[in-house]
Amino acid sequence: MGKLVRFGVSMDERLLKTLDKVVERRGYPTRSEAIRDLVRTEQVRDVWQKGKGAVVGTLTLIYDHHVRELNEHLVNLQHDHQKIVHSTMHVHLSHRMCLEVIVLRGRPRQIQRLADRLIAARGVKHGRLVATSGEDLV
Ligand code: NI
Repeated sequence: MGKLVRFGVSMDERLLKTLDKVVERRGYPTRSEAIRDLVRTEQVRDVWQKGKGAVVGTLTLIYDHHVRELNEHLVNLQHDHQKIVHSTMHVHLSHRMCLEVIVLRGRPRQIQRLADRLIAARGVKHGRLVATSGEDLV
C-alpha cells in the first residue's frame, strides 16, 4: 500500500448529499471508501478508452442452444481468439437456455470486438460485457 494522503474537498452541499446517498445505498463504511471506488471506476474507464495495455473483461451470455449451429459458432469464435479467451463457465439454465460466462484477457478493442460478435450471434438472447482491469488498480 502507498502512502495515505488526506485532502480537503469542497463541494455544493447538494452534491455532498448525493454522495452520502450513494454511501448509504451501497453500504460504504466511509465517504473515503466511496470516493476511492469512484476514482477506480474512472481509472478502469480510462484504460479501456485509451485502448492500450492488457485488461480483463467478463462476458455473460444467455442463449438458446436449440438454435441451429449456434453452439458450434460460439465455440469456433472462442477458439479463433484463444489468446484472449481465458476461461469459460457454462450453466444449463433450463432444457433450452444456457448461461455462459467467459473471462477475457487482452487489449480492450480485441475484447470488445469479440464480445460484440458473440452477443450478436443469432440465438443469443442477452449479453453483457463487464469491462474491468486489475493489474494497476490501487
Ligand atoms: Ni447448456
